This record gives sequence, C-alpha cells and structure tokens, in this order.
Amino acid sequence: MSDTVTAADAVADCIRSRRTTKLFIDRPVPREHVLAAIELARWAPNHHLTEPWHFYLLGEQSRLQTIELIKTITHDNKGPELAAFKAESAAAIPGWLVVTCKRSSDALLEREDYAACCCAIHNLTLYLSAHGISAKWSTGPVTRDARLFELLNIDADRKFVVGLIWFGYPSVKPEQSRSELDSSFTELD
Ligand SMILES: Cc1cc2nc3c(=O)[nH]c(=O)nc-3n(C[C@H](O)[C@H](O)[C@H](O)COP(=O)(O)O)c2cc1C
Repeated sequence: MSDTVTAADAVADCIRSRRTTKLFIDRPVPREHVLAAIELARWAPNHHLTEPWHFYLLGEQSRLQTIELIKTITHDNKGPELAAFKAESAAAIPGWLVVTCKRSSDALLEREDYAACCCAIHNLTLYLSAHGISAKWSTGPVTRDARLFELLNIDADRKFVVGLIWFGYPSVKPEQSRSELDSSFTELD
C-alpha cells in the first residue's frame, strides 16, 4: 500500500469515526490537545482570509455561570424539572468551548464567514476525535441569549455564537448512519 493510500485511509477513518457524544466520563481533557485543536481549527478554508472565528475556552467560573444560565433559561421555558435535569447533565461535561463568528453588514461575507467557522469547528472536533475525545456541537437557546454574551464578555453587536462545543472522553459513543449515497449525489454529463 502506498503512503498516499494510507494517509487517505487515515483521514477517511477519522471523518467516519467522529461521533457527536452527549455523555462523558469524569476525566479531564489534556489542555495541550485542546490548544492544538484550536490552533488547527484556524486552518479551515476561509474566503478573503477574514479569520472570522474566536474560541472561548471556559474555565471553572465561566462554566458554572453558563450552567446556571442554562438552568434559568430552561426553567423559564420548560419548568423546574427539566431545568434541574439539564443543569445536572451540563455539570457532568468536562470541556466547554464557545465559538463565535464576526458579524458583517455584508450578508454574503457573513454567510461565507459562518461557513468558514463551521469548517473550523469541524477541524477542531476531528482532531479531538483522533485523540479519542468526543464532542457535541450545540446551538441551544443559551447560544443566543444576551446573558451568555455578557458573562463571557462577547460583544453581541460584533459577533454571534456558531456553537457551544462540549467535549470530553465519551462514556458512550453512539452509532450513526447516513442515507444511501444516491440520495445526495448526482453525476452530470
Ligand atoms: C450547526 C450544528 C448544530 C448542532 N446543534 C445541535 C444541538 O443543538 N443539539 C444536539 O443534540 N446536536 C446538535 N448538533 C449535532 C447533530 O445533532 C449531529 O451532528 C447529528 O446528530 C449527526 O451525528 P454525528 O455528528 O455523530 O454524525 C449540531 C450539529 C451542527 C452541525
């Protein structure tokens, strides 16, 4: 087997084996893997090289404040039982990262910047996955709540949240499938 085939297989395996994971074991993720993942994320394709992303790695205080905010939002929208459940589940998640994208008055530029941020997040989660670390990209209500921007000191006029990325070593890695290739592929003459 040539080196190229081996490298291509490794990339394919990395892409295929990454799974969105909601449950994590109680084991800290080495900081160097997280920092390397953020560094690598920025090598995403990016039209005009605007580098529209920003990565906020939450420490203990901001993590606890965000969990409290999730609890409050869920309480107000869905009631106390679900709020307590969400807060408990969130408290068991070891890694918290918020990824923002620059706002722009130019709709096309903002769309392209958002696409680049999505590619960056995928780079990040693929790299973590290669280290056995799973993630869940969340776009839940907290990611659009003004109080999150306030507590993380993010200027909501200049940035929006692309994702809250939870990560850690998985306790259960779910099975996933995709539909037949034919349903999403057309080859033209
Ligand atoms: C932009 C984006 C937003 C997502 N938001 C959520 C979310 O809020 N909650 C959630 O459970 N999963 C969310 N996901 C993860 C998807 O549910 C997940 O990718 C899908 O179930 C396929 O699973 P896989 O990632 O393991 O292939 C999001 C994924 C993307 C790309």
